[in-house]
Amino acid sequence: MKIAFVGKGGSGKTTLSALFIRHLAAAGHPVVAVDADINQHLGPALGLTDGQAATLPSLGAHLPEIKEYLRGDNPLIRSAEEMIKTTPPGHGSRLLRIVEENPVYASCARPIALDEGSVRLMATGAFTEEDLGVACYHSKVGAVELLLNHLLDGPDEYLVTDMTAGSDSFASGLFTRFDLTFLVAEPTRKGVSVYRQYKEYAQDFDVHLRVVGNKVQGPDDLEFLRREVGEDLYACFGQSGWVRRLERGDEPPLRELEPANRGVLAELKAAADAAHELRDPRRYSAQAVRFHLRNAESWGNAKVGVDLATQVDPEYVLGAEPVRAADV
Ligand SMILES: Nc1ncnc2c1ncn2[C@@H]1O[C@H](COP(=O)(O)OP(=O)(O)O)[C@@H](O)[C@H]1O
Ligand SMILES: [Mg+2]
Repeated sequence: MKIAFVGKGGSGKTTLSALFIRHLAAAGHPVVAVDADINQHLGPALGLTDGQAATLPSLGAHLPEIKEYLRGDNPLIRSAEEMIKTTPPGHGSRLLRIVEENPVYASCARPIALDEGSVRLMATGAFTEEDLGVACYHSKVGAVELLLNHLLDGPDEYLVTDMTAGSDSFASGLFTRFDLTFLVAEPTRKGVSVYRQYKEYAQDFDVHLRVVGNKVQGPDDLEFLRREVGEDLYACFGQSGWVRRLERGDEPPLRELEPANRGVLAELKAAADAAHELRDPRRYSAQAVRFHLRNAESWGNAKVGVDLATQVDPEYVLGAEPVRAADV
C-alpha cells in the first residue's frame, strides 16, 4: 500500500507520518518510509539524531544509478540518460518490492530501529533555496515518482511518504501515485483552504483523499472541521501531550501515546487497507503514461533529444505481469 501525508506546513504531516509508520512497524508490518517534503524532518521524527539525519543518502544524488537499475533490459529505454522521472516501466524493466534487498535500497535506504519494530527510510535530500521552482528540485521529487512507478507492493506492506502539499507537488504526477492520501488539516481557515485546493486539483485524477484533523482540542474544533470538510473528514488526532514530550526531547515509547490518538492510528491503517480494494492497476499504469507523455512534450523530448513517447510499452500494466521464475 502506498500512502502519502500532505498538508500545510506545520499541520503535522511529519508527526502523523512518523506515528503511523511506528504504528505499522509495531504490528510487524514491513514499512518503507520516504521523506519527500521540502523540509526533511522525517528521520529525526523517527528517532535519528540531527547528525544521523544529515548523513542520510539522498535519492536525488543517486538518480543516475536508480535509473540504470530500473531500466533493466527494457529495450524501449536505451540508456539511463534517456530515462526521465516519468519514464514508465515496461517489459524488461526491473521492479522494486517493499521486502527485498536491491541496489536502490543498498545505496539509498537506511534501516532505523524503533522502540517497536523497524523501518527502512529513504529521503529525497535537502532542498536548497536555489532548488525551488527549477529542474533539480523536481528531479529530487522525481526520484520518488520513478520508484513508485516501479514498485510492486502488496497488502500488509506499506510505503509511507511525508510529502509537501504546495503547488510544487502538482508540478509532477507524484500526487497521483498513492493508494491513499491523508491530508492533515488543523481546525483553522488556512488548514482547510489547503484541503480545498488539494481536492480541486486532485479530483480530475482519481486521487483517493481523506482528511485527518490534527491538534483538535475540543468540540468547537471538531464542529469546525465537520462543517468545512464534510464527508472527506475521516478522523481527528487530538492535541497531544505525548507529541509535546517528543518535542521537549523525551523519547516516549509508542505504547504511552494517548489511547484515543492510538485509536486514530488504527483507523488510518483501516483506511489504508480498505484502499487496496479500490486499486486499479490499469488506471495506475495509464496515468503514469499520461504524465509521461505530458512531460515528454513539455520539456523531456527537447532535453533528451529523442521522442520519449517511444518509451511507452503499450501492453504493459504494472502488477499484471507473469510471475518471474526467480519468485517461484
Ligand atoms: N497532535 C499534536 N499535538 C501537539 N503538537 C503537535 C501535534 N501535531 C503536530 N504537533 C507539533 O506541531 C509542529 C508541526 O508539526 P510537523 O509534524 O512538523 O508539521 P509539518 O510536517 O506538517 O510541517 C511540531 O512542533 C509538532 O510537534
Ligand atoms: Mg514536516
